[in-house]
Amino acid sequence: MATDQIRLLLVEDVPQVVQYVRGLLNSQAAIKLLEVMTDGGRVVAQVAELRPDLVIVDALLQGRVKGHHVAQQLKDSGANVPVIVLTIPQQPVEADPDRGIHAVLSMPFSGYDLTKAIRDVTQAFESSAESGRGRAIALYAPKGGVGTTTLAFNLAAAFGAAGRRVILVDGSLQFGDIRALLRVPADAPSILDLPTDRIAESDLNDVVWRDPSGMDILLAPPRIEQAEMVSVRDVDKVISMLRRVYDLVVIDTACHLNDITLALLDTSDPIVEIVTFDSGTIHSTITMADTFRAIGYPASRVRYLLNRADSTGGLDPNDLVRALGRVPEHQVRSDGQVIATANNAGEPFVLSRPEAIASQDVQRIAAQLLEVIRTPVVAGARR
Ligand SMILES: Nc1ncnc2c1ncn2[C@@H]1O[C@H](COP(=O)(O)OP(=O)(O)OP(=O)(O)O)[C@@H](O)[C@H]1O
Ligand SMILES: [Mg+2]
Repeated sequence: MATDQIRLLLVEDVPQVVQYVRGLLNSQAAIKLLEVMTDGGRVVAQVAELRPDLVIVDALLQGRVKGHHVAQQLKDSGANVPVIVLTIPQQPVEADPDRGIHAVLSMPFSGYDLTKAIRDVTQAFESSAESGRGRAIALYAPKGGVGTTTLAFNLAAAFGAAGRRVILVDGSLQFGDIRALLRVPADAPSILDLPTDRIAESDLNDVVWRDPSGMDILLAPPRIEQAEMVSVRDVDKVISMLRRVYDLVVIDTACHLNDITLALLDTSDPIVEIVTFDSGTIHSTITMADTFRAIGYPASRVRYLLNRADSTGGLDPNDLVRALGRVPEHQVRSDGQVIATANNAGEPFVLSRPEAIASQDVQRIAAQLLEVIRTPVVAGARR
């Protein structure tokens, strides 16, 4: 979810509960209660009209259409909106997205419980395939020089070759690694050229860089100090909008974990974290895993990609597996000659040398990731 307000529709016929929820949300500028409805039979039509980001329904709603039917009807209508069901401990309800119930909140709940559930559900829904939106995949490594930029560029090319509409985002805002890799002219448009207040899809045409390989790229600013002009809010908005237009948003991130990198990781599911057989990298990766746990990312959100997988540098592969707590999900073998030549020419090796070892590995990873995210091809909104 972008940092924009979350627009909420409440379906509740008990005035005391309405008053309670209103009271809890009053102090919350980030959540806007659009309307309170008491008639479950009108919810589908009203959702089509108001397009809320989230619906909260009381499971005990009386009337023609009962609470759990509202959730099911919304699901069946293709409204593409997540639903939180309110209930009481005596009447437990199971969360079941297949029945249109994305989360359950049992009364009594605190303001913290309510706002956390609202945020978590809208965020999870936005990054899920169910929302019908494109998916963002960030490539990240806590250590530099491990191949993040090279792999982001080539994975994006492989997704494109697989028929997906893809954009590569240069998320290393200070150094513009993609800019450097492609030796883009300094006056090429960048993320800075997008209006920050209301970004429209039509603005993209002027701002997206079309690489000779056919790839769409949103470049980082041309100068280091300009990175500061991009806020977390801008990043949230831009990625959210790109996910409406593209099937896949592949993001190359910088290794320092600042607010911008965190915002980019927050919007991505999965995060592909690059590791190599290097003791410093492994140490940083373990430290990072602790941080991801602390900020609430489930372990499954991160997929490890072992780059230069056949260059162990004298390390025992089992030690790496023990350190990561699992076998890395993906592997790319060393292919120095092919990769250096392609990088120097600013070409994706998956396209210029599709038969090369590294290309085969990247193509396989692209297919595996598509399988994992089961990304829908975004209908409409094509340029
Ligand atoms: N599988 C590989 N085999 C051989 N060389 C590789 C492989 N992957 C990356 N490289 C080389 O590693 C170097 C670093 O790659 P890259 O710039 O993509 O890394 P990075 O993690 O983005 O670095 P930075 O920290 O500068 O952002 C490049 O010279 C690239 O050619
Ligand atoms: Mg890089």
